[in-house]
Amino acid sequence: MGKNKKNICLLHNTIRGDEKLLIEAAKKFAVNLDVVDVTDLILRTKGQFKFDVILDRCLSSTKGIHAGLFFEGIGIPFVNTVKVAQICEDKFATSMKLTEYKVPTVSFAMVFNVDQAKIAIEEMGGYPIVIKPTVGSWGRLVNKINDLDALEAILEHKDTFAGPIHKSFYLQKYIEKPGRDIRVHNINGQVIAAIYRKSDHWITNTARGAQPLPCRIDQDLENIAKLTGKAIGAGILGIDVFETKDGYLVNEVNHKLEFKNVQRVTSIDVASKIIKYCLTCAL
Ligand SMILES: Nc1ncnc2c1ncn2[C@@H]1O[C@H](COP(=O)(O)OP(=O)(O)O)[C@@H](O)[C@H]1O
Ligand SMILES: [Mg+2]
Repeated sequence: MGKNKKNICLLHNTIRGDEKLLIEAAKKFAVNLDVVDVTDLILRTKGQFKFDVILDRCLSSTKGIHAGLFFEGIGIPFVNTVKVAQICEDKFATSMKLTEYKVPTVSFAMVFNVDQAKIAIEEMGGYPIVIKPTVGSWGRLVNKINDLDALEAILEHKDTFAGPIHKSFYLQKYIEKPGRDIRVHNINGQVIAAIYRKSDHWITNTARGAQPLPCRIDQDLENIAKLTGKAIGAGILGIDVFETKDGYLVNEVNHKLEFKNVQRVTSIDVASKIIKYCLTCAL
């Protein structure tokens, strides 16, 4: 390890295109980058770790958060912090933080049975509504419910077949979008890049085939992305935003950026900005 060079640990459990971009970007900085598979570690307080900062790139959020609890516990900065990760990891926790900070957001409710769901849906203005797991990504199990029959069917299936996490029913109003949504990146309070995710389907994750296109960051988008950063806490954030006739609405916030599409279509070097941010967090 070179003298005066910071030691960054890129913690992962699989190397994807995004991690390769980070490894390349790190070469431009005076840093030692250790690429460590979290599944090779034994997290015991006795462990000798010589890192100045850990960049959490674990695909498994649970493993990432457990690693974060360990490394923060032994005094090594972890990016994103466990606090930020835990808010983003749970869509209901995110919604509550956004509400606390008065960030315009999609109206939502948490219910635990079908009777309360019916009341909540009426209060939210009726069908269609969206139900989604509080923990999840890539549009998985994000379902649109158009009527009472569908509501009863989905909730009965979740109640009968799914694990405990799926028995907390997180509902959102269905927002009509112009065939796309926006993913905007906020790194340490700076709004650095945005893309549209265009799709014929109402689910617009790029993981589900949506097309990434460059998006200009106007003042309103910058403002809402900055306010979201204040609500969630400093870190590396990917914010999902809907365009509506009444302005932008934040849908959810991701704490582990998948930025390779953003970097490709905007030519903004997101990977370098992430490494730079890690250096500002380092011991
Ligand atoms: N309330 C909603 N109204 C309209 N579209 C939605 C709504 N919630 C989710 N979507 C669509 O589904 C996609 C995935 O939902 P999201 O909440 O971002 O979960 P994930 O963590 O799986 O990305 C969004 O990018 C958006 O296109
Ligand atoms: Mg999303």
